[in-house]
Amino acid sequence: MSLLFLFSCCPPEVVTFPQNVEQVSEIAILCNDNEIPLIPFGSGTGLEGGINAVKGGVCVDLTHMNEILSVNPEDFDCTVQSGVTRMQLNNYLRDTGLWFPIDPGADASLCGMCSTSASGTNAVRYGTMRENVLNLEVVLADGRVINTAGKGRRTKKTSAGYNLTNLFVGSEGTLGIITKASLKLFGIPEATVSAVCHFPDVQGAVDTTVQVLQCGIPIARIEFLDEVSIDAVNKYSKMDMKVAPSLFLEFTGTPSSLDEQAALVADLCSMNNGSDFKWAKDPEERSHLWKARHDILYACMALKPGSKPYSTDVCVPVSKLPEIIKRSKEEITKAGVCDSFMLGHVGDGNFHTLFLADPNNPEEVQIVKDVSNKIAEMSLEMNGTCTGEHGIGQGKRELLVQEIGETGIQVMKQIKQTLDPKGIMNPAKVFY
Ligand SMILES: Cc1cc2nc3c(=O)[nH]c(=O)nc-3n(C[C@H](O)[C@H](O)[C@H](O)COP(=O)(O)OP(=O)(O)OC[C@H]3O[C@@H](n4cnc5c(N)ncnc54)[C@H](O)[C@@H]3O)c2cc1C
Ligand SMILES: *[C@@H]1O[C@H](CO)[C@@H](O)[C@H](O)[C@H]1NC(C)=O
Ligand SMILES: *[C@@H]1O[C@H](CO)[C@@H](O)[C@H](O)[C@H]1NC(C)=O
Ligand SMILES: *[C@@H]1O[C@H](CO)[C@@H](O)[C@H](O)[C@H]1NC(C)=O
Repeated sequence: MSLLFLFSCCPPEVVTFPQNVEQVSEIAILCNDNEIPLIPFGSGTGLEGGINAVKGGVCVDLTHMNEILSVNPEDFDCTVQSGVTRMQLNNYLRDTGLWFPIDPGADASLCGMCSTSASGTNAVRYGTMRENVLNLEVVLADGRVINTAGKGRRTKKTSAGYNLTNLFVGSEGTLGIITKASLKLFGIPEATVSAVCHFPDVQGAVDTTVQVLQCGIPIARIEFLDEVSIDAVNKYSKMDMKVAPSLFLEFTGTPSSLDEQAALVADLCSMNNGSDFKWAKDPEERSHLWKARHDILYACMALKPGSKPYSTDVCVPVSKLPEIIKRSKEEITKAGVCDSFMLGHVGDGNFHTLFLADPNNPEEVQIVKDVSNKIAEMSLEMNGTCTGEHGIGQGKRELLVQEIGETGIQVMKQIKQTLDPKGIMNPAKVFY
């Protein structure tokens, strides 16, 4: 994707637009027989170069398979084809009182989100894609079609054998092509309010987050933005927030439970020298606030025209969050990277450092690569992961080895070998 600078763009030789699972299967058979790489394409918003055709081959663009196949309101689930996007699903659900909460900052396809195990601002409350998939229909490299939980099944729990659904979640197109997903749905909460709170320093914001979680407050969203991110948001989304490290918060529930949660969190904020809450109570105000949060990549890019972004994606046990954020800031200062922004889904221990660099300036690009690696290695040292939600793609293959260990990688490669013996599925991703 043109957004990224760390991976040079490798277009495929052929792009196909299958209309149904049978056609996907036929494409797989043709590619497998001729040992041609097969690259699934959801909506192209992935941030780790996942759709790059590094070894050429056939791109399977799933955007035409965009039907919502069923919604079962009484069971809180639905089944969609691979090209359905999260916003398309939520628009469709609008009148049912239900929604699908996983919300990466882009309107990604739901099966693409399964493939990267995506999350977003709601994961602290609802979990990631991993916790919200009930069943997947997958076309394997040799064209066989499987339903990971058995055809049509959509139970909340099962003890029936290996969890094949989980195997395909996060597999980034290296094991098969997901053509259908059954997903959990949730009732829209009775009442919702959002608030912004500013802090004199990063530590105060992050300490507050950790304390909110440790108190077991069922917060719906808790997002950290540092002062430069706030400045970018102010300019891009025409807001006038105080330029300081901040938390964006959301509370949901019954009106009374909401008051109680908000009071507790307000106490914790003020103990850490946070400002009073600035409330966003009506729906327009709330959606403006969260749209501004989701648009942050574009907000930052607007500050340095011609630059391209790269984002780190580490996730640590929440108790380690204050330390890794502090040490990351030190590394960034030491390296002299000028354009960097810190923000994160801090409720999950997941934060991003967004760098802007001139793709034609090799020195700048190298610094960003080095600092990103350093931050990921610090996370691994703290028993964290190098990627909370973006995936391994092309750039983090070495880090994956460090994270999982040689034996773990061997087992992953054995699974890959069994399902895709000719290595046609999205080659050179996840592993070398
Ligand atoms: C502005 C912006 C903000 C973002 N914010 C977040 C965020 O907050 N949280 C987050 O998790 N991500 C975020 N992302 C990243 C991105 O939206 C997610 O990674 C998303 O899951 C990618 O979905 P997609 O449909 O675009 O997949 P693509 O980019 O098309 O593909 C991603 C990978 O999955 C594979 N793939 C896609 N579809 C299938 C399929 N049907 N079967 C098998 N393999 C498939 C591809 O081969 C590729 O390896 C953001 C991206 C942008 C541009
Ligand atoms: C199997 O994996 C899926 C996807 O990660 C998950 O949602 C589901 O809860 C798992 N099932 C069981 C029984 O653990
Ligand atoms: C809050 O501010 C006061 C006065 O500046 C300071 O003494 C105190 O250490 C701060 N508390 C925290 C938790 O940062
Ligand atoms: C990481 O986990 C190991 C094993 O549980 C533990 O010994 C070590 O202290 C942990 N490291 C950190 C920084 O918490």
